[in-house]
Amino acid sequence: MNIRLFKPSLGQQELDNIKDAFERSWIGLGPRVNEFEEKWAKFVGAKQAVGLNSATAALHLAMRIFGFPRGKKVLVPSLTFSATASAILYNDLIPVFVDSDPVTLGMDLEDMKNKYDEDCVAVIPVHYCGHPVPMDELMPWAREKGLKVIEDCAHTSGSNYKGKNLGTWGDIGCFSFEEKKLMTTGDGGMMVTNQPELFKNVKAMRWVGIDKDNWKTSQAYTQANKDAMHWFYEINVLGYKYNMNDLAASIGLGQLERLPEMNARRSEIIKQYMEGIQDIEGVEPLLPYEPDKYVYQMFGIRAEKRDDLMIHLKSQGVATGCHYTPLSMQPLFKPYAGDCSYIEREHNKFITLPLHVDLADEEVAYVMEKIREFEHR
Ligand SMILES: Cc1ncc(COP(=O)(O)O)c(C=O)c1O
Repeated sequence: MNIRLFKPSLGQQELDNIKDAFERSWIGLGPRVNEFEEKWAKFVGAKQAVGLNSATAALHLAMRIFGFPRGKKVLVPSLTFSATASAILYNDLIPVFVDSDPVTLGMDLEDMKNKYDEDCVAVIPVHYCGHPVPMDELMPWAREKGLKVIEDCAHTSGSNYKGKNLGTWGDIGCFSFEEKKLMTTGDGGMMVTNQPELFKNVKAMRWVGIDKDNWKTSQAYTQANKDAMHWFYEINVLGYKYNMNDLAASIGLGQLERLPEMNARRSEIIKQYMEGIQDIEGVEPLLPYEPDKYVYQMFGIRAEKRDDLMIHLKSQGVATGCHYTPLSMQPLFKPYAGDCSYIEREHNKFITLPLHVDLADEEVAYVMEKIREFEHR
């Protein structure tokens, strides 16, 4: 057996869509990006969505939009991927690392409240593995403090939490379509909002300052024959080269059609894991997974003998990982680290297990058999 940790599931629909882009011979920012943005906005229940080349870009722009003064602080969990906190540094802001809730491993809201001070301007809840941060509790507090809320939705796509989709609770939601995520475009991201005024300049910000639809212009070159200025644009804002392109959007449109079916398969696998590890001593689920309610990008366990178990699984052809070393322990972020002692201790037990749509039932059973073999040896 050789079982991968993550693997994108790609099909004929994605290939057909790419063929269509080839035939149109338009593979940069174009009509497929527009279409994907409209469909994504509808899918997550947001008024507007903007396609980007990553969630990292989305997080950078999301904070940029608010024009926070240099040196202000942003509350962020220590247990997240580097991009969540790097985006704070890109904006010349200071990350304030928050410890994890011991049960859900999401941001500990009590610790967040304790670490707040008047220099804080925003908070970035991360729905870690896909498990929702209690946004019904976070939002009223953030509003009372005047904080902007940017949801890092890299591990979720389409979960509804207490009647509202994740990504639409805060001011801006940032999604990732990187290849290990719930659906992929190779690399890609999307930012969404229900406050369109926030996105007034975002299309220019994602495309070197130009707010223009070249695809539409190209369709009208020859019709507007009395207008010699069809090429003109004005740069009013500092933009980046962060746009999604039509090749990525072609894959994304195919993936989006299959997303409900792919998410259902992930839930099924998680249920198999949850049932299978129940009777294995020394091992417990990473967090209280609720696969009937939410979609999860990662499945993990907490194991007392983490490193030995990882080595055993490796020797049996099972890939594993650890998500993550808390950022407050990373050399780059250490200067900003406050007390995140729970997660800095606890993460030594974490093992991420294989989870992807094409994982067969027998492979899931094999992974658990190998864990059982190790724990009960
Ligand atoms: C929590 C989290 N935030 C942000 C990102 C960045 O996503 P991207 O690779 O699309 O930039 C990731 C990617 O792994 C992530 O896990």
